[in-house]
Amino acid sequence: MLGSALVGPSKKITVPALRARKPSGPKLTVVTAYDATFARLFDQAGIDVLLVGDSLGMVVQGQPTTLGVTLEDMIYHGRAVVRGTERAHVVGDLPFMSYQTGALQALEAAGRMVKEAGYEAVKLEGGVLYAEHVRKIVNAGIPVMGHVGLLPQSVHALGGFKVQGRDADAAERILADAQALEQAGAYAVVVEAVPAELAQRITRAVAIPTIGIGAGPHCDGQVLVGYDLLGMYSELRPKFVKRFAEAGKVVVDAARAYVSEVQSGEFPTLAHTFAAPREPAGTAEHTGAKAVVPGTPPSYGPASDES
Ligand code: KIV
Repeated sequence: MLGSALVGPSKKITVPALRARKPSGPKLTVVTAYDATFARLFDQAGIDVLLVGDSLGMVVQGQPTTLGVTLEDMIYHGRAVVRGTERAHVVGDLPFMSYQTGALQALEAAGRMVKEAGYEAVKLEGGVLYAEHVRKIVNAGIPVMGHVGLLPQSVHALGGFKVQGRDADAAERILADAQALEQAGAYAVVVEAVPAELAQRITRAVAIPTIGIGAGPHCDGQVLVGYDLLGMYSELRPKFVKRFAEAGKVVVDAARAYVSEVQSGEFPTLAHTFAAPREPAGTAEHTGAKAVVPGTPPSYGPASDES
């Protein structure tokens, strides 16, 4: 019999735990992360879900859309985020053209995400049209998060990153998409850039948690791109973004101070280097590189003269 000790630390956030929060909260907090350092920081802050979004194409790779992101990219970034995470649930986006051609292709891509990166769930964009894909992945034991409303992978068909569901027909279609995802077995659904009233209707109509972005205050949870939340990405400033810090400015100011101190000679001083070697003359100097022992943080240099 499988004991809980065999399925990971008990504090790990699981799919059933996320679903159980729908009726009475607290609201689910979701943030995108793309590397181990940010994953560790967001995890320490108590974020419930780390989403390795294909938004990495824009905020990490500098592309104008998410369309160029590959399955290999998602696996690479997923590995890093999984390594940096202890508690949060880690989800990865199935990138454009890794699932659109059929349910079997979707299952194969989802399988690689789980096996090769360690994702605990995958997310895909679309509703009614992709219900079969979702069912196939879920039947293989891989949890699926849906995504309705503004679908960034359809940016060209939509004519840009625009609010969706403003007229009655479009609103009905988005509601039907969310219901189709629920029926296909999705455990949660992202609702992006729709009027708050529609997001509220969807939230009431489905038994799975809705996670809003640009969808108002009535969803069961909220997602933001990590770099937006931190104030580090200025190429796009959607109305729905709230910056909780101006970390972009902190980075620029710190880098300017570094330039200034290196050029003036203020940094480095002798305090930032190492004592003369204690080894007998002729002994080769230790580079400071250390073997990484499992369970200890990696080091790329000595922290003190004794290291
Ligand atoms: O790719 C992404 O970051 C996303 C979120 C904005 C929901 O899909």
